[in-house]
Order: sequence, then C-alpha cells, then structure tokens
Amino acid sequence: MCGIAGYIGYKQAVPILLEALKKLEYRGYDSAGIAVVHNGALHVRKTQGRLSLLEKRLETERLEGEGGGGALQGSTGIGHTRWATHGAPSDRNSHPHCAGKIAVVHNGIIENYRELKGWLEARGAAFQSDTDTEVAAHLINYYYDYYEEVPAAHPDRLAGAVMAAMKRLNGSYALGVVAEDAPDRIVAARKDSPLIVGLGEGEQFLASDVPALLSRTREVYFLEEGEVAALYHNRVALFTGDGEPVTRRSCRIDWDAAAAEKDGYPHFMLKEIHEQPRALADTLGPGLRFVPDTSLSAIGEWDIDVGDVPLERWKDAPRIVIAACGTAWHAALAAKYAFEGFARVPVEADIASEYRYRDPIFDPRDLFIAISQSGETADTLAAARLAKARGASVLAITNTRGSTLAREADFVLHTRAGPEIAVASTKAFTTQLMAVYLAALKLGYARGALQPSDFRRYVAALRDIPEKARRVIRGNGESGGADRINRIKQYADRYFNKTKVFFMGRQCDYATALESALKLKEICYTHSEAFAAGELKHGPIALLDAETLVVTIATQRRLFDKVASNVQEAAARGAANLVITWEGAGERAFEKIATAVFPIPQTEDRLSPLLSVIPGQMFAYYCAVARGNDPDKPRNLAKSVTVE
Ligand code: F6R
Repeated sequence: MCGIAGYIGYKQAVPILLEALKKLEYRGYDSAGIAVVHNGALHVRKTQGRLSLLEKRLETERLEGEGGGGALQGSTGIGHTRWATHGAPSDRNSHPHCAGKIAVVHNGIIENYRELKGWLEARGAAFQSDTDTEVAAHLINYYYDYYEEVPAAHPDRLAGAVMAAMKRLNGSYALGVVAEDAPDRIVAARKDSPLIVGLGEGEQFLASDVPALLSRTREVYFLEEGEVAALYHNRVALFTGDGEPVTRRSCRIDWDAAAAEKDGYPHFMLKEIHEQPRALADTLGPGLRFVPDTSLSAIGEWDIDVGDVPLERWKDAPRIVIAACGTAWHAALAAKYAFEGFARVPVEADIASEYRYRDPIFDPRDLFIAISQSGETADTLAAARLAKARGASVLAITNTRGSTLAREADFVLHTRAGPEIAVASTKAFTTQLMAVYLAALKLGYARGALQPSDFRRYVAALRDIPEKARRVIRGNGESGGADRINRIKQYADRYFNKTKVFFMGRQCDYATALESALKLKEICYTHSEAFAAGELKHGPIALLDAETLVVTIATQRRLFDKVASNVQEAAARGAANLVITWEGAGERAFEKIATAVFPIPQTEDRLSPLLSVIPGQMFAYYCAVARGNDPDKPRNLAKSVTVE
C-alpha cells in the first residue's frame, strides 16, 4: 500500500523525509512526493515513478536554484510513496494532494469519495486529480476555512478540522496533514491503516512502518483506531476522534537499525533469504526452555514455552480455524498439516478474504489463529474481528509488535524475523512456520496426542533447523556453500525464460509448492502454478509439454513412490523435472527420473517446509535477476495490503 512519512523539528525536513520514504518504498513505488511548509506557503514536489526520480528532481533544483533558489527549505513536512488504487500512476495523481491551505498524504481508500466530491464541488472545490484522497484534502480544508461551523471544535484548529473530516470519511485511512499557515504542527489520523509517531528531542516523526523510524528514534506511539495525533516540535498530543485527550506510554522498539539496511547484499530479498537461519533461531530461542526435571524425563528436557499463550485452554477445542492471506495463508496450510498431525484436531485453513464474507460457522470453543507478517493486512484483520465478534479467542502469529493484529488479538505469538523489507516474503514465512510448529507440538503434547518420545524427537529436530537452513543456503563448508548457490544459479540460468513452471507436492509439500510458485509469480512474472501432486492427472496434466518446467517437492518419505510416479508422468510429456528432496534417501529415489535433484539436509518429514521452501525462494530470486527484474520491488505489488 502507500507509505507515509512526516517530520517536524529543527532540521531540514526534505532529507529526513526522503530517507524515511526510501525505507517505505516497499509499500508502493509508482510515484512519490513531499510537501514542506516554509515562509507561509506549501512547497510541493511530486513525480510519477520511483522515489529516485523525485530525488533527482530535487537535486537538480538544488543545483540549478529553481523553485525560489537552492534546496527546498522547511523543517515541517510530509511525504508519500504511492501504490495506486484510484487514478493511474501520474504526476497529478501523486500525493501530497493540496486544497487551499492544506496538504495531505494518505494511505488507504476513501470509499465514499464520489458522494463527498459532489458535496465539495457544490461548495466550489475544484479537483485536480482522479484520486479518492483529494476529497480528504478538500474536506479538511473546508473545515479549516469554516472552522466556526464545526460543532464542539477542538482548540487546535488543524486537528479539529481533521476530526470534523474524519466524521464524514468512510473507508480506511492513515493521514498526514500540514497547513501553510501552521508550520508548527503536523496532524495525523488513522482508521484501518497503520500509522506510527516517532518521538525525538525537539523533533517528531511520522511513518507508516517502524523501519522508516529506526535511524531516528526507538520511542513510538502506534496510533490506535480512530485516533488523532498532533505533532509539535517539543511534544506529541494524542486525541480520540472526538477530541478527548489520550494518555498512554510510548513503546520502545527493539529492532536493530542495521536490520533495515541491505548490508552489502544487492537486494533485500537475498539478504532476507540469508537471514533465515538467524531469524529461525531467534524465533525458536524464546520458544524453548530447558526444564531440569520434568514429567518428560527425570534428567530434564527441552520443553516448549509459548509465553503467555494459554494453549492448554484449547486442549479440548473441537476445531482450529486459521485465516491469512498470500504467503501467510501458505503458512496456514502448512499449519493445518502440523496441527492435525501433532495435535489430532481438525483444522480449517482459510483465505482471510473469503472467510470474512462467507458467514462462517463458528463454535466459540474453537481456536482461531490469524497469521500475518505485518499484522496490518485488511482482510486478515477483518477475519480476526469477525471471529472475535462470534465469541472466539484470537491467537495472532505476527512479526510486528504493536501492529493492529497484535493489539486486537487476545494472545500473540511473535515471530522474530526482524524487519522484512523485500516485497516477496521469505524469512517471515519460515518464522511463521517455526511458531506454528512450536504451538502444534505444545498442543499435541497437552492433548496427549503426542507421546513424550515423539515430542522429544520433534523438539530436538526443531533445534537443528537453523543450522540445517544455513546448510541449505550456504552448503556444508565455504566451498560447499558456493557450490550450492551456483547450482541454484545454474538452474535459474537454464530455466528463467520458461513461460510455464509448475510446482507440485503432497501433504505439507503442497504448501511449499504453493509458496514457491507464488515467489516465481511475484518477482519473475512467470506463469507458475502449484498442484497437489495427486491432482496432476485430474486435469493440469493437459498443460504439460516440452516447454514446461515441473518442480517437485518430495519430502514425505512414505509417499516417495507416489510422487515418483507423478514425476514420471511429467517426464513422459517432455517436461523438465527438478526435484527438491532429502539428501541421501531422496536423492536415490529421484535421481534417475528427474532432470536434476536439489538435495536438502534431512529433518523430520512433518517439519520439511522449514527447509524445502528455501531452494524455491533462491530459484525465484536468481530467475528474477536473470530476467533483469528488481526482486525487491515487483511490478503492481505492495508489501502490506491494508486495503481490500
Ligand atoms: C508474498 C507476500 C504476500 C503477503 C500477504 C499477507 O510474498 O508477501 O502474499 O504474504 O499480503 O501479508 P501479511 O503476512 O503481512 O498479512
């Protein structure tokens, strides 16, 4: 979605806004713009295209002395990076949008913009763009101009005008607002779109997401639903939408600023693939606890610690319902296999955008789990709210502390992937899986569905996963690592131009297949599909020909023979076959029938997605690079989908 930034303080706003927008560009990159308040006027620069174009334009102005001479001055400003919803990407549809004295940046969708536009036009407003956002600018400007008409007006005129406008805006919004005659404040508001205020000394910041603030401050307020913030140089005041003051403590962010940098990697996606061993270890670490003497054994054991999440409460739950979107839905599907396998409880893994509209049948004793990296995905939030409204306790699995989902859920399992900047999700997925396996094993043990010896075996296997993930990425030693990466690159160089790539697998390998196919779609723009391998012969096999690449994920040893038949069926139609399988047993089972085998270190079959997805991520990355695509910023996509 779009990214919003704001700065008020004693420094020049433009470089600070540009730095923040760079960190937010993953949210949208079809245009960028800024507005600064200086000498009683708004100075707006906006451009279609990536942020770098805006930067170039500002640099040219600085060198040539355009726009009043030299660099754009001003220490109060707002900025925006756009993912178009209403109105094609163009200069005039770029934010900020201005009306009278007001400039506005917006993330979200104003659903009743047509009706408001008519109302405003009847009062003389002249619209310049095709966006929904512009109505917010005109509406705020209207109430700012006719402030005496606003009932129960707030003492801060700009904040009051925003509050009055909010009462009429339907839809979702995070807003940053400045006025040309109020250089001493920025007003921000949120409804269903994330917004964070960063607190400094004599300066305050605004951003859609934490990484944009990390180099400036760690103290933040996550704005709550319907809240308004007024940022002044020396303080921040929070209000309800009705103007009542809100008092609460700020939160301290513990993410490392370096985590939001590329750190020598050519792309965030490659860096994030390589960070997986660490992210998995960080997510696993707090989830494991050594208990010196337990019911598991007299000498002491590793036990699973899910913090404040009272999993035992759902010991007798008749069902688990999991809702999520995209990659997180693939984690939900893997979770279905995990909870059913370990805890022997029926599970529904639902696409959140479907769940929310199908009037689901819900038993309040069910456990509802929402999985979301950002914790801000509109459909996932709506699904969780629906489940809650029907009496469910909601368990969130999220990577983002302070996110809307984390705040609204009853219980939270935090993944510790650190900031994920690349649009295509990698480390968030594997850490979601790690959280799922911890919860499923714990519940399985609590329900008596897992014998202590099995519990122990799986916990031991989880403890080895970070090191095995490192081996998938880097190999056994330095040269082994280069070999492994080179092999993936070779496959990518050989196959990146394929127009059809199918992924298949059985059981949890099907979840891995879906996720691997999504990676290829997202960053290579290749038509890739995933199938449950047994489904191939029920239709999709008609698509196979010598132009097709089939990637099979084969980690379920008891099904090797079945999967081998599917690989043969594809080979018989002339398709090239790449098989991702276990070192040793898997290699032996598939090497004679596959075009190539990519072996991964062995672990328990049920835990395989933690490792088997990594080759697919790397393959997609190198295919994208071979195609000349920017893997971090795929076309048409945005990282955090905060609109429907
Ligand atoms: C794919 C991807 C998306 C997200 C989806 C849900 O690489 O990133 O499919 O997984 O938009 O996002 P979250 O997890 O933030 O709810």
